Amino acid sequence: MQKIYAAITAVHGYVPDYVLTNHELETMVDTNDEWITSRTGIKERRILKGEGLATSDMAVPAVKGLLEKRGIGAEEIDLIIFCTSTPDMVFPATANILADKVGAKNAWGYDLQAACSGFVFGLTTGAQFIESGKHKKVLVVGGDKMSSIVNYEDRTTCIIFGDGCAAVLLEPNEEGFGLVDSVLKSDGSGRPFLNLKAGGSLRPASYETIDNKEHFAYQEGQAVFKFAVTNMADVAAEVMERNNLTAEDIAWLVPHQANKRIIDATANRCGVSSDKVMINIHRYGNTTNGTIPLCLWEWESKLKKGDNLILAAFGGGFTWGAAYLKWAY
Ligand code: COA
Repeated sequence: MQKIYAAITAVHGYVPDYVLTNHELETMVDTNDEWITSRTGIKERRILKGEGLATSDMAVPAVKGLLEKRGIGAEEIDLIIFCTSTPDMVFPATANILADKVGAKNAWGYDLQAACSGFVFGLTTGAQFIESGKHKKVLVVGGDKMSSIVNYEDRTTCIIFGDGCAAVLLEPNEEGFGLVDSVLKSDGSGRPFLNLKAGGSLRPASYETIDNKEHFAYQEGQAVFKFAVTNMADVAAEVMERNNLTAEDIAWLVPHQANKRIIDATANRCGVSSDKVMINIHRYGNTTNGTIPLCLWEWESKLKKGDNLILAAFGGGFTWGAAYLKWAY
């Protein structure tokens, strides 16, 4: 029997209108455009403003746009995997909320939490349901409303993150296009360095957790940087090596947009020249689960059938991983 691959057959994204520039941040915390640009590569990021708007509200236009592009109805979706670290609520799953909002009446779904590696983990997980023959149409959504967990008085984190969301559709392909391979890793001993301490079962919300600002993302930047810069690069190189790929074989490197210096290190390690690296960190910052699918969305018109893509990510946990994808259209 012919092997079934899980191919991306459509991609669409959404970023909120509000642009938070480095210059505006200068009025909020003790920082400056030069520092942020040289240390991170970020110039601006998008923020979802407005009462009652959550991560799923960014996913709705992304998914509606995707369905329209592909010319299918929401009721044809079998499964929604929503990769997010900022779910609308602790439960029910944002995947379920999204299914209701877009009318995906025949889909089941769940949220996947792997911090910034979520989309690569979700893509790999979603692909299994296609490869097994169990499902025909799987939506993998990656998005975060990071502004809901960022402390805009903490200059070490508020400069980095932004809001955004994008989704891909996975469908069966028997011609060898789609997800070819992935390497996924995690190391829970990294949890002290990047986390959100309260609001879970360990530290339920209390006056104390609020006073201590424990409902905001906490990061030890240097420790995270050191781990990220080596592991994201190593895992990208590993997936290339085990598929006998050289830099010449790669059409695009699609790195998680955490820090321009981490992106450059990953590209160097893989030997991929800068013109083949998708970078939009200067405009969106780190949208956590949104970065990789947002890149695919923005570069969609440049992608050609058969292009070899390497996706690479690193995130809190720690989690990290890379995927080798043969573009299908
Ligand atoms: N503006 C100006 N100065 C700042 C600043 C800001 N926004 N944030 C920190 N600083 C200061 C620090 O206080 C420190 O000052 P000191 O030397 O007087 O103590 C100095 O700049 C250097 O701080 P440091 O934390 O060593 O900077 P860095 O080069 O490591 O850059 C990060 C900080 C957060 C940008 C960087 O560590 C990073 O990108 N880490 C990884 C983040 C990441 O990828 N997270 C997501 C994982 S998916």
